[in-house]
Amino acid sequence: MDTDSVKQLETSLKGKEIGHKIHFLNKINSTQNYSRYLLKNCGLPLHGVVVIAKEQSAGRGRMGRKWISPPGGLWMSIILQSWLTPKRIPIIQFISALAVADSISTLTSLECTNKWPNDLLVRGKKICGVIVDVDFEGNNANQAIIGIGLNANFSANNMNDLENQIKVSRLTTLRDELGYDIHLLNLTKLILERLEYYYSLLKEDKIKVIIEIWKKRSDLFGRVVTVEDGKDIFHGLAMGVDDNGVLEIKLSDGSVREVLFGDVNLSIKPYRLNDQPDLASN
Ligand code: BTN
Repeated sequence: MDTDSVKQLETSLKGKEIGHKIHFLNKINSTQNYSRYLLKNCGLPLHGVVVIAKEQSAGRGRMGRKWISPPGGLWMSIILQSWLTPKRIPIIQFISALAVADSISTLTSLECTNKWPNDLLVRGKKICGVIVDVDFEGNNANQAIIGIGLNANFSANNMNDLENQIKVSRLTTLRDELGYDIHLLNLTKLILERLEYYYSLLKEDKIKVIIEIWKKRSDLFGRVVTVEDGKDIFHGLAMGVDDNGVLEIKLSDGSVREVLFGDVNLSIKPYRLNDQPDLASN
């Protein structure tokens, strides 16, 4: 990707809601921070504006984590300023992950699965993460910045970062999975087009439809998972996701715990719903 090809991409998306204007940077600390800077300083409407960087020096992940962002990846933020009602906000992460999953499936033979709330996995390893930064004024959001980090044309072996070594072993990239490099510009175009499509569903409040599509791409449900919600670590049966994007976990005492925020991982043994899981032993 370079300035010229990104200009062509921008031209091809003219008139669309998402991607009609694209800022392309060789290196930045974080496209999320740069988008925030635009929102603070630009004064113009920025709905649908996209920021892409070749490399990030301080990429941000969820829960305060660092996001390793070498050249070859897709490091992209998308600014939203319209249609942000409170019930739509938590669904933005699902439509973003779906847009990426659809695009990878269209352009490659890889099978992507969704992991709540917004990770994409290939063969159980994380290939893409999504973060959504929201600015609220009272109950209403003024703006949201979607951040998409897709490990594409580099190898996970090159993600040398001592601090994150253990995590790195759970990551993969398109290059590692495919054995070749993907045309990043075509992939980006598709992601932005799919995001526009899912955003149109969201604007019509077709949240149930979105969640059902998202669930079809997930292998979490009916399985015992381990949840880390920032306060506790606990196990339970993943039951579903409600219309607010909340994950429902059935605990061993039969009660259902709602998880709004956190990380979830499959427990090692893949129980199905009609088995009788001994949750205490997981
Ligand atoms: C996660 O923790 O899974 C979310 C990772 C999101 C990373 C992307 S890369 C583009 C954008 N800029 C950032 O600093 N973070 C997001």
